[in-house]
Amino acid sequence: MTTTPPGSAGTTSTTDLVASSALQPVDFRARSTLQLAGPGISAPVLELIDIQQVYGAGDTAVHALRGIDLAVYAGDYLAIMGPSGSGKSTLMNLLGCLDIASSGTYSLAGNDVATLDEAELARVRNREIGFIFQSFNLVPRMSAVANVELPLVYGGVKRAERRRRALEALDRVGLAHRAGHEPQELSGGQQQRVAIARALVGSPTLVLADEPTGNLDSESTDEILAIFDQLASEGRTIVIITHEEHVAERSHRMLSVNDGLIVSDRLTPHAPRQGVSV
Ligand SMILES: Nc1ncnc2c1ncn2[C@@H]1O[C@H](COP(=O)(O)OP(=O)(O)OP(=O)(O)O)[C@@H](O)[C@H]1O
Ligand SMILES: [Mg+2]
Repeated sequence: MTTTPPGSAGTTSTTDLVASSALQPVDFRARSTLQLAGPGISAPVLELIDIQQVYGAGDTAVHALRGIDLAVYAGDYLAIMGPSGSGKSTLMNLLGCLDIASSGTYSLAGNDVATLDEAELARVRNREIGFIFQSFNLVPRMSAVANVELPLVYGGVKRAERRRRALEALDRVGLAHRAGHEPQELSGGQQQRVAIARALVGSPTLVLADEPTGNLDSESTDEILAIFDQLASEGRTIVIITHEEHVAERSHRMLSVNDGLIVSDRLTPHAPRQGVSV
């Protein structure tokens, strides 16, 4: 199936569509930050063409994805839903460059991910993608602020600058006053907010969240969704996987996956410009 630009924030004014040079693929080898995620630029941040993922071989092969076509634009806030085993995490792993597809093409800001070597993939994961997981994945016995600093440590940012940016990110999620606390001293919702701060601290092009509210009560879920709303209103590109309809409905665009295929793709009432397809 073909996907059309969803007409959401970031794809807005075609009038100020920048010079064609901005639409050229970004070379990850040469640049540290994607140049295609800015406002007014309409090339997809992510583009998947006939993506297939097969685990194993022969009689036991599992066709987890069976031909995914998808374009995600700067500023999209996308929710992916689907039953257990439908391929959501498989898709997320590909989007996050944690895995490479068996076949098909995945381009991240115009770069075919299959052409990047391990070091380049690691760099893309670290600098361009902010990951949020269901189980928070914070490092135990390390303070919240130290957890948030981690991507910057790997990114080679100096200590004082790291601390400043980590505290700023914690402040954004309302947890500056818990900066010195370790994960086991925080509630589940607070831990997830630390994880969101960690995902945001490097100002990634894309925020990817796999069941971010799956382990949270409804109050914490609301807090997390409010943060996502805020990020979306700033034009951040967000992809979340969720089982929960009410979580998906907060996004701007809902995708249903079943048996390794996208079976529906529609804008929600929260989409900034409904019904626009280019
Ligand atoms: N590493 C693997 N090896 C073999 N099969 C796998 C592997 N990972 C996933 N699968 C299979 O691929 C299919 C899709 O799995 P995936 O984890 O993407 O589903 P999901 O939609 O995320 O499910 P859930 O909602 O339960 O998390 C399933 O049939 C699963 O058993
Ligand atoms: Mg899953």
